[in-house]
Amino acid sequence: MKTCTQQNHLNYKDRINLGSYYTKTPHVDLVWQMIDKQINNKTTILDNSCGYGNFFRDDDSYKQIGADIDRTAITKAKLQKLNTEFIHHNSLENVSRKSYKIKNNTNLCVIGNPPYNDRTSIIRGDIKQQNTGIDSDIQTRDLGMSFLLSYKKLDADVVCVLHPLSYLIKQANFKLLKKFTDNYKLKTAEVISSGVFSNSSKTMQFPIIVAMYVKNDKGTSYDDILNFSFNLSNSAKFKINDFDYINNYVQKYPNKLKKYQQDSILFWTIRDINALKRNQTFVRKYSANTIIVDRKKLDYYIYIDVFKYFSHHVPYYLGNCNVIINDSLFKKYKKYFILNSLVRHEHLRQYFAKFDFSKTDIIKCSNRKITEYFKILLGVHYVV
Ligand SMILES: C[S@@+](CC[C@H](N)C(=O)[O-])C[C@H]1O[C@@H](n2cnc3c(N)ncnc32)[C@H](O)[C@@H]1O
Repeated sequence: MKTCTQQNHLNYKDRINLGSYYTKTPHVDLVWQMIDKQINNKTTILDNSCGYGNFFRDDDSYKQIGADIDRTAITKAKLQKLNTEFIHHNSLENVSRKSYKIKNNTNLCVIGNPPYNDRTSIIRGDIKQQNTGIDSDIQTRDLGMSFLLSYKKLDADVVCVLHPLSYLIKQANFKLLKKFTDNYKLKTAEVISSGVFSNSSKTMQFPIIVAMYVKNDKGTSYDDILNFSFNLSNSAKFKINDFDYINNYVQKYPNKLKKYQQDSILFWTIRDINALKRNQTFVRKYSANTIIVDRKKLDYYIYIDVFKYFSHHVPYYLGNCNVIINDSLFKKYKKYFILNSLVRHEHLRQYFAKFDFSKTDIIKCSNRKITEYFKILLGVHYVV
């Protein structure tokens, strides 16, 4: 069995700009397991963001083609003698089977770990030029999404790649992938943490999936995604629809029509759970990023505030989801949430006149009760 080599020739800036986080052996093996039943000895295997060629096997059962924009990576890939044809080019420009000399009737399976980085956050510098030539019909704000669209352009029969889970679960991303998702059915997906990649941030890990898609006229709808069973490495599974979300109760974004007043209660824009971990909750200063809280919904904003402080119990794979809630359970535990939050936000005490904040023993017990709530809310997903 071949062991994958980790990227060792790029500096920090180039690594970020090219999204060069190389895949390790267990995840490469997982890709081969997933495609096993979909390929035969007439299949051409393509990894067009191949780095050193970690995904290829020294095996002549299939025709293998690798491509990368990074010349040094391709030079190193060639040294590995992997029975693979390597090409140095930009795989997002002039995308066609012709550029790989793959015939229209050839069964094509794309594998790999395309770069994912938000193009708007790419570090400025010379290397940025390398990723500017992208065909207009596959341009998006993220290189990885452009790669997915390019697989449709190549008319791949099977696609098995690693990509952020957020491409599927964030509706705005899902819409950008329409040309791909309309034509490919998601068959199986296993969630892994971004933290498994060398040099990646360990503090804010986000979910990545190893996902296998097959060409199919019916494609994958957003509803399919909400009800899809994602595998976890410990043989557990989860569905987005296993949970209820806070956006069913409150507005997540500022409402331009609401007028700010001196006594408005302000809350920072609510994105996903990972953003909540980084951001503030109740704030005192009005800005374009603040929501003016509807007082009738104040309890739910208190819920979100407390959720932030207990979010270490939420597993990384829910990091790109909205804040989750069990509304009927929350109603039972509400007083503990209020007590817990108002210790931090004294200016809100005026709205809860019946609470006695001098009773520190009750406030202390709120921690235990809220933990109990989180255990029930998350069930098998609760992180100790
Ligand atoms: C996440 S790494 C994966 C490398 C390899 N497949 C692996 O998993 O070990 C992404 C690779 O995409 C390459 N890349 C970035 N933009 C590209 C483009 N426009 N065309 C081809 N390759 C590109 C980078 O140079 C990098 O080698």
